[in-house]
Amino acid sequence: MITKQKGTYDIYGQKARNWNYINQVISSFAEIYNYDYIRTPIFEASELFHRGVGETSDIVTKETYDFHDRGERNITLRPEGTAGVVRSYIENKLYGSPCMPQKLYYNGTMYRYERPQSGRNREFTQFGMEVLGSNDPLIDAEIISLPIKIFETLGLKNLKVNINSLGDSESRKRYEEALISYLKPHISSLCEDCQNRFLKNPLRILDCKKDADSEILKNAPKMTDYLNDESKKRFDQVLNYLDCLDINYEINPNIVRGLDYYDHTVFEITADIKELGSGNVLAAGGRYNHLVENLDGPETPAMGFACGIDRLLFALETLDIPLADEKQLDAYVMYVNDEEKEYGIYLTQELRLNGFKTEIENCSRSLKNQFKQADRYNAKYLIILNSEDLKNGLIQVKDNITKEITKVKEVDIIDHLDLHI
Ligand code: HAM
Repeated sequence: MITKQKGTYDIYGQKARNWNYINQVISSFAEIYNYDYIRTPIFEASELFHRGVGETSDIVTKETYDFHDRGERNITLRPEGTAGVVRSYIENKLYGSPCMPQKLYYNGTMYRYERPQSGRNREFTQFGMEVLGSNDPLIDAEIISLPIKIFETLGLKNLKVNINSLGDSESRKRYEEALISYLKPHISSLCEDCQNRFLKNPLRILDCKKDADSEILKNAPKMTDYLNDESKKRFDQVLNYLDCLDINYEINPNIVRGLDYYDHTVFEITADIKELGSGNVLAAGGRYNHLVENLDGPETPAMGFACGIDRLLFALETLDIPLADEKQLDAYVMYVNDEEKEYGIYLTQELRLNGFKTEIENCSRSLKNQFKQADRYNAKYLIILNSEDLKNGLIQVKDNITKEITKVKEVDIIDHLDLHI
């Protein structure tokens, strides 16, 4: 038997219904908040992620699925959605739209070669929202509030927003210098990854999972103390607008994020679910005011977030939060002879086109077994076709809960079901 690949999964049955339900909630939020759907390719030139996500990030150095195609191109399966959206924004000149900023949302599979564990897969699905072309701090607050409101609507409680500001490049440079001189005497007592990061990207040491509890990191200088006046004012405005939206948050100076494109606001939303372990970050994002320029586009401030739908579904199911209804049919069409079957085929289409979720017997079962099948489908109404009744223009309808049988005129069948379902 051929089995699925490590870090991938199948979704079917009730899980699939829950999946669709979550996606419906997400898309309706995106529409209400005035975001347009964008779909970009699953594979892109490797260079996009090297230049976009960052040469020193774990994602690019350790986790991408890279390959040469038959034309010897360097291709990467997308590890995240932002870089592709920015490429598309530049390539399709969306910056020329009369309607700025561009508010976009996406939903698709991403690939990271990570160690699979609960809520962490190699093929996973992210939905994300990006606003390109506005530097207003109200957009930062909107982007942080969106996943919170979606999660709350789905039934999650005890959500926590951890927020930080990386400031502008001047603030970050000052901070990096302070951090390097603080860490220098201690670096040999940190993990091997941190020792590498010290040379390439010292800020990333702050969110190291292995050294998270080390006193050295706890006592490190705080980014927020190094923000210049402009960056500090901007951060205060974001916090003020979050207050306007009634979103609780905690300033966490250790949030630096694993992708290199951020400046100013960065945030992570966690759910207090122990089964998720370190994968309890349900959504994360931040401002990336220089990514468009770095990818050869015009100067464009931008802000966004992404959420792992698989991780979200795992969280909701772990907490037993009801999502989609169990499978149920409105009507099940039953028959015995060919004449009844032919009419049944016609009637089933009529019912379906009138919006009733309908199935017709399709495995030549005996009448007794058709009743059993209707129960398996959890059908609300049984349409029991009978040649004698059909000759008189009548259809037998059985309410599968009260067991009451009614003979309904053929022409009234839609109205009858409409009235009762
Ligand atoms: P990220 O923090 O790498 O950010 O991923 C965002 C979310 O994707 C995570 O919080 C998590 O829910 C989900 N996720 C990441 N890796 C996995 C995995 N292996 N398995 C399951 N879920 C996963 C980004 O991707 C940025 N593009 C976010 C962003 C958008 N920043 C600005 N705009």
